[in-house]
Order: sequence, then C-alpha cells, then structure tokens
Amino acid sequence: GAPVEVDISTIPPGQMRTYEWRGKPVWVIHRTPEMLEGLSKVNGDLADPNSDRPGYTPPYAKNEWRSRKPELWVGVGICTHLGCSPTPRFEPGAQPSLPDDWQGGSLCPCHGSWFDMAGRVYKNKPAPDNLEVPPYQYISDSKIVIG
Ligand code: FES
Repeated sequence: GAPVEVDISTIPPGQMRTYEWRGKPVWVIHRTPEMLEGLSKVNGDLADPNSDRPGYTPPYAKNEWRSRKPELWVGVGICTHLGCSPTPRFEPGAQPSLPDDWQGGSLCPCHGSWFDMAGRVYKNKPAPDNLEVPPYQYISDSKIVIG
C-alpha cells in the first residue's frame, strides 16, 4: 500500500480521524492536555504500560505517550485479540460498565478489551497486546505520512 499523507491541522483537539493504510484503519487522535494527563493515571491498570512487549510499539513510540509527539496518537484501530474494531469512548469519568476514574480510550465490542488513550490494553482482558503503532513520520508541523 502507498503511504498516506494526513493534514493533522484539520483534526480538532479531542477528536480523531480514521485513515485506511494497507487495508487497515489507522486512527489519528488529537489528544487534549487532559487526555495526556490521564495517561499516567491508569498505568497501574494496564497490562504493559511501558510497551515493553515486542512487536507493536516501534522505538519512537516507546515513551509515555506512545507517539512521536505527545498530542498526536497514531495507531491501528484493530483489537490485538481477534481483530475487531474497538469503539472510541474518549469522555472521561463514570460511564456504564466503566471505572469511575475512566480516563478515556476505546472498548472492543467483541470480547470486552479496554484500551487507553494511547492504545494500551488494560489488565485481565482478552487482548494480549497494546494496539499497534504503525510506521509514520512528520513531514512538517501539520503533516504526517503513515507508512
Ligand atoms: Fe477485541 Fe476479542 S477481538 S476483545
């Protein structure tokens, strides 16, 4: 598949866009400062908070944000369990069936895996790994290329 160019200036804070790359849905999420602050709050609830497991996190995303720059998260929207597409639930706070301190993330509708705003999987869920971070790079302050 050809690389996909994304003008990230068109994505408002707190929102995401989905792009197709190699037949996969790639999420580009413009995280707010509150969303970034929420990341460290859930570290203790995650299966692999530092993305130490091999295969899904390239070196440039092995940091607390799992991204090249904090604001923007780029990840493949495919559950690492059996390949369903998680549903974004970005609103923090209490929601039905979610913890009171939910900091935003996504929920897999198939077997109930939860992921945080960096695509990191919660403990004791069927998905074995964090969501994949694909190859991408910045070609300017407002543009990235996926692939
Ligand atoms: Fe997502 Fe099973 S496919 S939890």
